[in-house]
Amino acid sequence: MVDVHKPLSVRHAHVPSHASVWFCTMEVAPFSKVGGLGDVAGSLPEALYRLLSPRGSDMAILTPLHGKMRGLQSRVVIKELVVPHRDTCWRFNVHLASLPDGNVPVYLFENHDGFTNFEQVYPTHLSIEDEVLRYEMFAKAVLSFACRQSAKAHLFHLNDWHTTPVATLLHTDPSCWPATPETRPKTLLTIHSLGYQGILEEAGRTRNLMAEGIQYCDALTTVSPTYAREICTPEGGAGLHGLMSANQDKLHGILNGIDRVAFNPATDTRLARTYRVATVQAGKAANKKALAERLGLGHDPDLMHRHWVGMVTRLVDQKGLDLVLAALDAGLVEQPVQLVILGTGQPDLEEALRQAAERHPQVTACIEFDPVLAQQIYAACDSFLMPSKFEPCGLGQLIALRYGAVPIVRKVGGLADTVLDVTESPEAGNGFVFDAYEAEGLVDAVRRAVDMKTDYPESWQALVERGMRQEWSWHQSAQAYCELYHHLLCPQSSIASFFHTCKSIVTRCLKG
Ligand code: GLC
Repeated sequence: MVDVHKPLSVRHAHVPSHASVWFCTMEVAPFSKVGGLGDVAGSLPEALYRLLSPRGSDMAILTPLHGKMRGLQSRVVIKELVVPHRDTCWRFNVHLASLPDGNVPVYLFENHDGFTNFEQVYPTHLSIEDEVLRYEMFAKAVLSFACRQSAKAHLFHLNDWHTTPVATLLHTDPSCWPATPETRPKTLLTIHSLGYQGILEEAGRTRNLMAEGIQYCDALTTVSPTYAREICTPEGGAGLHGLMSANQDKLHGILNGIDRVAFNPATDTRLARTYRVATVQAGKAANKKALAERLGLGHDPDLMHRHWVGMVTRLVDQKGLDLVLAALDAGLVEQPVQLVILGTGQPDLEEALRQAAERHPQVTACIEFDPVLAQQIYAACDSFLMPSKFEPCGLGQLIALRYGAVPIVRKVGGLADTVLDVTESPEAGNGFVFDAYEAEGLVDAVRRAVDMKTDYPESWQALVERGMRQEWSWHQSAQAYCELYHHLLCPQSSIASFFHTCKSIVTRCLKG
């Protein structure tokens, strides 16, 4: 079993010198965010750049130019990169852009057959065959671009199944990379969710793109230590636990962070009133009032005194919305709570939430994708609910902590690594945790939060402040990635100092 909890000596992390790291991703915030992967791609590379650039190393993001990104400021650096496909070819233009206030170059791959003509990042009308084709063509374009660049790619940092063809093609298709195994660039695959794998029937056999990536990559990470352990078990491995266990030598759990500048209640211009630790009470009250107005809920003093519980989430099975719906009938609405849910996703869940909101005045369902409203919810709410079935890391609970919304979470994946139950650990706890995937546990956790805020306001205030002070930045995680890059690029170096991260990150962060 992987010892993902072995401490990492972050202060002495090795950083590779004179290396080029290419971060390949389907989404990147703020250009094309769909979920947490977009947030990670929009912030981790910058944190890596800060460590890599003083050592003469480069970092670049490579991503498709999706339809929704048309009009973005960029300049074409390669016109007509021709990528053969059967007896025809796809033509890509490569644009160069940068993230707002960012340093890392972002290469955008424009192609009308696969990306630029679609508004959605993951177009729902495409067959799996067409999806796989677009990801393989993107990978071929990336490799062809890499062959042309004078700054050689030393390491491809791949993210989720959409980008695994880069690793697979490097190993199986000599036309994509005219190199010997010794000069082949290294690949690191980060799994943000094993829930999506890219499975299709092809020429009479089943292909699984995630499985191919796991097999061919040189190293494998996932986004929290607990999820790294869970995916090696039959319950958490989504059918791939055997393969995960067989590859556990190269598997590491590195916890995600958040961009503490972008997510800062003291400077966040999206809020009705900014606030910091010392002013959180007044800040929350003002933001609650503004949110009630925005949502058309009125100013009833009873409403303002309720315990507001927020959820900002993709509406997919993973996120435990069936549990929330069950909890409504298992005593949740008998509590003095106001539940505000924001998100889009599966039509069945969208509809179920709309109906729940009609039945219960204490439920407000905003079925939309609105990053501004999302921040207003974090700022207004007393608590933030994440009852996930599985959660590789979860960023919502980290943002909620920063905004003084106390997380109420299920003890799973990255939620288990970042939220400590305050009932069990009154001095160190930063939230409320329940274990079994049952509505009763959720209701009980919410009840504990409501009771503490009502009956022990000073303890509640201390809890809020403790969470706000905790440091869940990217810095330490970026050091862990650099250490791993270094090990991959200089295999003679000892991996001892890297060894499997994250207990130290988790412990330090929880201490605040
Ligand atoms: C996926 C996971 C989430 C994780 C995010 C970024 O969205 O479901 O848990 O935080 O990726 O890694």
